Amino acid sequence: EAAEKGGYEHFMLKEIHEQPKVVRDTINSVVKDGKIDFSSIGLTDDEMKKISQIYIVACGSAYHVGMAVQYVIEDFTSIPVRVELASEFRYRKMTLVKDSLVIIISQSGETADSLAALREAKEKGIMTLGIVNVVGSSIAREADNVFYTLAGPEISVATTKAYSTQLIAGYLLALQFAVAREEMTEEKCCELLKELYTIPDKIEKILEDKERIQWYANKLAGAKDAFFIGRGIDYAIGLEGSLKMKEISYIHSEAYAAGELKHGPISLIEEGIPVIGVLTQQELYEKTVSNMVEVKSRGASLMGLTTYGNYSMEDLADFTVYIPQTDSHFAGSLSVIPLQLLGYYVSVAKGYDVDKPRNLAKSVTVE
Ligand code: G6P
Repeated sequence: EAAEKGGYEHFMLKEIHEQPKVVRDTINSVVKDGKIDFSSIGLTDDEMKKISQIYIVACGSAYHVGMAVQYVIEDFTSIPVRVELASEFRYRKMTLVKDSLVIIISQSGETADSLAALREAKEKGIMTLGIVNVVGSSIAREADNVFYTLAGPEISVATTKAYSTQLIAGYLLALQFAVAREEMTEEKCCELLKELYTIPDKIEKILEDKERIQWYANKLAGAKDAFFIGRGIDYAIGLEGSLKMKEISYIHSEAYAAGELKHGPISLIEEGIPVIGVLTQQELYEKTVSNMVEVKSRGASLMGLTTYGNYSMEDLADFTVYIPQTDSHFAGSLSVIPLQLLGYYVSVAKGYDVDKPRNLAKSVTVE
């Protein structure tokens, strides 16, 4: 097993470090000569033109990918997107809009609720697309179209690299929808693809600074509760950061859309509670800052995760982490990295079995 870990202490850390490569591989799988080519996936431009509604259906971290990707699709195209938990979607009596597309996101391709949701959609005559990692898995076999993420085998129960490749698949899908529907020019798409290609190096750069996160994680290890806040894509990434924290560190953690704090959760804020703010979306920066000020005045200990340039964060937060600048739609691929590291290092500091957290399974084939 030591050999399989390639010199890393845990599979999770190894898989975190594999992200630049698997992200690049996933981009390369559908980008040829600077253009997106979906011929391996199946979904045609004509089909994309006709889609009037997208449902993204998934469980766990894959659901969080859907939460992030909905903002990107809605920003690039005029298609409304709904994100649903598979375990809710499958039992819900809802009229699926004609000409809709159901996208099922699943690393394993075997999650019982996600597979059932896929079958439910097919029975209703709705077109389906699977974003799947495991080749030949049930969801990959049964979906009408498949976008394979090229994360390779993921051993750690807490997903990192599969999650990152699912985000990339979501961006590429959003871009191709936009171009096919003539809602984005080829030139604009080309420019964004160039930016997407810089993501692996930027992830690498964040990983070089991992000791700083470890230092902060050691301080966080004694915490009983933690909160993650953000708006838009930053909220979606907070959901994933919070899940990482609770699933491997056993710290009670919640993610909130920053604007919701005042509707309840703020009453839980007391002296010393860690609140992690994610602020990569420039137009929402000041809004989330004001929410951080509110919790700080009630005693919270703040971590600010933002983009290089937003140096005023240091006047507010007790600990600041910067990520490289990129197009705002892709920022989640960078901001999630310090949050993965945070969950990882808190778990290590507490001496837990990082790769095999209690009560959890890698692939959940029961309902
Ligand atoms: C389990 C895993 C999670 C994963 C979820 C969905 O709970 O521990 O990491 O996000 O299932 O799995 P899937 O294989 O469908 O992506």
